[in-house]
Amino acid sequence: MSTNPATPPQSVSRQPDRRQFVKTSTAILAGGAVATSPLTVARGAHNSVKETLRIGLIGCGGRGTAAVVNACMADKDVRVTALADAFPDRIASCLEGLQMQEEAVTRALEVTKENQFTGVNCHEALINSGVDVVLLCSPPYFRPAQMEAAAAAGKHIFCEKPIAVDAPGVRRVLKASELCREKGLSLVSGLCWRYDLGVNATMERIKGGDIGEVRAIESNYVTGELWHRGNNPEWSKIEYQLRNWLYFAWLSGDIPAEQHIHTLDKALWVMGDTPPVRCWGTGGRQKRTNAMYGNTYDHFATVFEWENGVKCFSHCRQMNNCFNENECHVYGTTGKARILRNEIEAPGKNWRFSEKGPGMYDVEHIELFKSIREGKPINNGDYMCKSTLMAIMAREASYTGKEIEWEKMWNDETVLGPTEIQLESGDYDAGPVPVPGLA
Ligand SMILES: NC(=O)c1ccc[n+]([C@@H]2O[C@H](COP(=O)([O-])OP(=O)(O)OC[C@H]3O[C@@H](n4cnc5c(N)ncnc54)[C@H](O)[C@@H]3O)[C@@H](O)[C@H]2O)c1
Repeated sequence: MSTNPATPPQSVSRQPDRRQFVKTSTAILAGGAVATSPLTVARGAHNSVKETLRIGLIGCGGRGTAAVVNACMADKDVRVTALADAFPDRIASCLEGLQMQEEAVTRALEVTKENQFTGVNCHEALINSGVDVVLLCSPPYFRPAQMEAAAAAGKHIFCEKPIAVDAPGVRRVLKASELCREKGLSLVSGLCWRYDLGVNATMERIKGGDIGEVRAIESNYVTGELWHRGNNPEWSKIEYQLRNWLYFAWLSGDIPAEQHIHTLDKALWVMGDTPPVRCWGTGGRQKRTNAMYGNTYDHFATVFEWENGVKCFSHCRQMNNCFNENECHVYGTTGKARILRNEIEAPGKNWRFSEKGPGMYDVEHIELFKSIREGKPINNGDYMCKSTLMAIMAREASYTGKEIEWEKMWNDETVLGPTEIQLESGDYDAGPVPVPGLA
């Protein structure tokens, strides 16, 4: 078995079926249950599915809280039984947020005090608390250890992007996702646009030849500044980093991994999930120069090249008062597509998506729970690992100013972050802001 996603995997990750999304969504909108009857359904090598599925959330921040809502809306018979976060105040605010949601969410909440777990290794106790499904929504640095533990314990997984911050982390996650496949567990990635109806429809047209042969891609995620959570004299230095994880490359993977991955993943998808062979890039920080912003950049530009000569020109930036665009433009021999706009522009093939359906964040959970109920596991491990490595390659090419080959990046042994985290008193030297040509 090859662990290098450059080699096409034997089992290709299941793409969501657009028509099925629409069918399921109609049932949901009509108030029907996604859960099928009879409620005990055989699912291959794994145990039978229980009537009530218990959900545990790891990482109780903005996305995690929203993912719990999506999960509760996706399946009638779920209970949220456990929450885990490095910090107790985050669990409290998550619970508070969930209690303000509609009844489908509040009636599913059954989190006792004993099932609230804190600390950097909180995932271990949560996974052992009797949950069936785990939602992995902490900062990306922790994802490989959490994925390994969840897969080993036989849990179905929803896994936010990116799945790691370095190549060894990507390899660990790929292995854990293979274990999910062997165990018949569902693994759904938070690369949410893979579950968007309009994006899927546009992708179908591109793959169907509506713009001819793909020649080039322009993949942009240029947007405004994100949150910063300030400092508190009671926090240790490491706690400051964890609280403001976006700005430390070892925790977030920097913008290409933390945010730009969404548009890089679309380029990978256009290219049939075949990874690029090389990339080069540039970047730096012009506005977020204060030390409070750790060691991350505020802008990157990267050029990826595939074996067949197709290039992807990509940009990401987080700065206020500038031009914004989250879009993946695809240029073909006979036309062009704007994937997020769900639009094809080509002689005789002009088209724009106009169907109505549930949003992508709902669909990813609808598909996850349906796959568990029907015993047809989804496994998004392949593409989530490849697009994370693409993002890491973009970051490293820009930090160093060097061209990087996919194979070299895949085999890289650099591990970011400390081996142990002491939350109460700890510190970690995250390193300087990298300077291209010197890094
Ligand atoms: N798919 C999307 O559209 C989307 C949108 C936003 C965020 N995300 C992703 O979701 C993840 C979370 O982002 P967020 O915006 O919710 O951030 P957040 O900071 O609001 O939440 C992260 C939570 O994880 C907690 N945490 C830190 N270390 C932990 C550990 N060791 N174990 C458990 N919890 C820990 C933090 O205290 C925090 O409460 C990130 O990977 C991010 O990239 C995805």
